[in-house]
Amino acid sequence: MRRSCVIGYPAKHSRSPKIHGYWLEQHGIEGHYGIEEISPADFPGFVTKLDEHGYVGANVTMPHKEAALQYSEPDQRARSVGVSNTLWFDKAGDLKSTNTDVEGFIGALDANAPGWDKKSESAVVLGAGGAAKAVVYGLLERGLKEVHVVNRTIEKAEAFRHAFGSDVVPASWDSLPSLLKGATLLANSTSLGMHGQSDLEIDISVMAEGAVVSDIVYVPLKTDLLAAAEARGFATSNGLDMLLHQAVRGFELWFGTRPTVTSELFDMVAADIVGG
Ligand code: ATR
Repeated sequence: MRRSCVIGYPAKHSRSPKIHGYWLEQHGIEGHYGIEEISPADFPGFVTKLDEHGYVGANVTMPHKEAALQYSEPDQRARSVGVSNTLWFDKAGDLKSTNTDVEGFIGALDANAPGWDKKSESAVVLGAGGAAKAVVYGLLERGLKEVHVVNRTIEKAEAFRHAFGSDVVPASWDSLPSLLKGATLLANSTSLGMHGQSDLEIDISVMAEGAVVSDIVYVPLKTDLLAAAEARGFATSNGLDMLLHQAVRGFELWFGTRPTVTSELFDMVAADIVGG
C-alpha cells in the first residue's frame, strides 16, 4: 500500500486527508493519506527518513515549508517561490520537492476561466506575502508580460521585482483605481476579506468587460470581491478551487493517477469549511 501524509505543526485541522481520501476511493486505489504532527525540532530527522516511516511522499504545511525546501531537491518552482509543499521520491530514491500552490492558482484559473491567458497580457495582484509569490510566479511562468503587484508595504512589492524581474511592476494601494481601469485579470492574495479580517474595499466596476477575478481567501467561500465580480458577469476563481487544484500534482506523483477536481469534491470540502 502506498502511503502519503501531511506534515505540519499543528496538522490536525488539515483538509488534505479528505481531499486525497476522496480521490483514493474514487479511483479504487489501495493507498492511504494520513496526518503527521511533527515539531520543528523533529522535522529534519523525520523528513530525511520519510521512506523509513513508510511514506512515498508528503505534503508539508506550516511551519515546515522552508525546511522542506532545504532538506530536499527542489524544482524551479519551489526555488523561485522559496518554499516547498510537496515531497516525493524519484526513481533513484532521491527526495524531490515542488511548490504546488503555483499549479493550484493557475489550475483553478484554467478550470474556471478557460482561455484567460489568451486575453490577458497583464494582471493586477494584491499582496506581496508568501501566497502572492506563488501567484506572481505562476502568472510569469504562463507568459504574462506585466504583473502589477500592489502592496501596503511597497518594499515587499519591490523585492518581488528584484526576485522575479522587470515584468513585475510594484505599486501602492493609491494607484489601484487607475490600474484596475480596463484590467482583465485581478488576483487577491492578501488576507483582506477573510472572515475576521478587514474588508477589501475596491471598485472593480472599472475593469474590462469579461474580466477574471481570483481570490485566495476561502473563508467565506464567496468573498465580497467575488460576489461583486459575479454580479458583473466576470469569471471567478476562489480559494477552495486553488486548494483543490494544488492537491492534484501530489496525488499524481504518489499514486500514479492524475485526479480531477469534481464539483462533488468541491461541495464535500465546502460543507466542511462552512461547518467549521
Ligand atoms: P501569506 O503567507 O498568507 O501570503 P503574509 O505573508 O503575512 O501571508 O502576507 C499577507 C499579505 O496581506 C501581505 O501582502 C500584507 O501586506 P503587507 O506586506 O503590507 O503586510 C497583506 N495585508 C494583510 N493585512 C492587510 C491590511 N489590513 N491592509 C493591507 N494589506 C494587508
